Amino acid sequence: MALDRVVAEPILELEGISKSYGGVKALTDVSLTLRPGEVVALVGDNGAGKSTLVKTMAGVVKPDKGRYTFEGKNVSINGPSDASDLGIQTVYQDLSLCNNLDAVQNLFLGREQTLPWWRGGRIQRAECEVRARQVLRKLRLDSIALDRNVGAMSGGQRQNIAIARSILWEPKVVLLDEPTAALSHSAAEQVGVLIRELAAHGLAVLVISHDIHHFVIDVTDRIEVLRLGQNAASFSSKDVTGERVVNAMVGGEEGINSAG
Ligand SMILES: Nc1ncnc2c1ncn2[C@@H]1O[C@H](COP(=O)(O)OP(=O)(O)O)[C@@H](O)[C@H]1O
Ligand SMILES: [Mg+2]
Repeated sequence: MALDRVVAEPILELEGISKSYGGVKALTDVSLTLRPGEVVALVGDNGAGKSTLVKTMAGVVKPDKGRYTFEGKNVSINGPSDASDLGIQTVYQDLSLCNNLDAVQNLFLGREQTLPWWRGGRIQRAECEVRARQVLRKLRLDSIALDRNVGAMSGGQRQNIAIARSILWEPKVVLLDEPTAALSHSAAEQVGVLIRELAAHGLAVLVISHDIHHFVIDVTDRIEVLRLGQNAASFSSKDVTGERVVNAMVGGEEGINSAG
């Protein structure tokens, strides 16, 4: 590995984050640290607060209290554009891809203000293709056909296009909410390879996943467990079994069933 994950300074640090929705405490005093070159898994049962924590990092949810530090500086995040200005990109579960558009169009979706090529500009389309090809090559996704409608692509390819889109403008942090939820085992493996590629380029990656025994253990470096909106455990992925992680998720005693 080119980067020494042990000594890399944190890029994003959340401390003491709490968020309630009416009477529901979604997060209570949660802390989380991301470092360049490291892939962190965020795991927990349904309702544990994973998505709320990701949305807090993405500026979509404003926490009731807590500190947000980016590159060593205390920052105030008041909306998604504040997070994206810092270089934080999020890929949500629904992907927000348009099935009737091709890969290039999807990569530049939502950036029409700077690239209005479908109002007639052939040259701009060509520029988009060049940039798309660069990004896909950098991510070793050359096999994706640029001019094919994404609706005709496999789930793994669609997920990879959504991830590629998030890194088009060279973020420093990528947050992924369940990128493998709807995927077959082999498609999830493809996405895992891409996620390692992002970290190899020095990005900090946070990924929510329920696939503890394969994806989380195999792809990530560190596992952060949320339970009932609180930090429950933290593991180095190479030193832990899936069973121990699952026990921490459900609040079972650590070590139970570890022989099975
Ligand atoms: N917008 C919301 N309004 C009300 N309650 C919410 C909202 N978002 C999340 N919650 C609640 O907060 C808790 C944590 O939810 P969430 O972060 O989605 O958990 P997870 O992603 O781990 O399944 C749940 O009890 C959920 O019902
Ligand atoms: Mg969720």
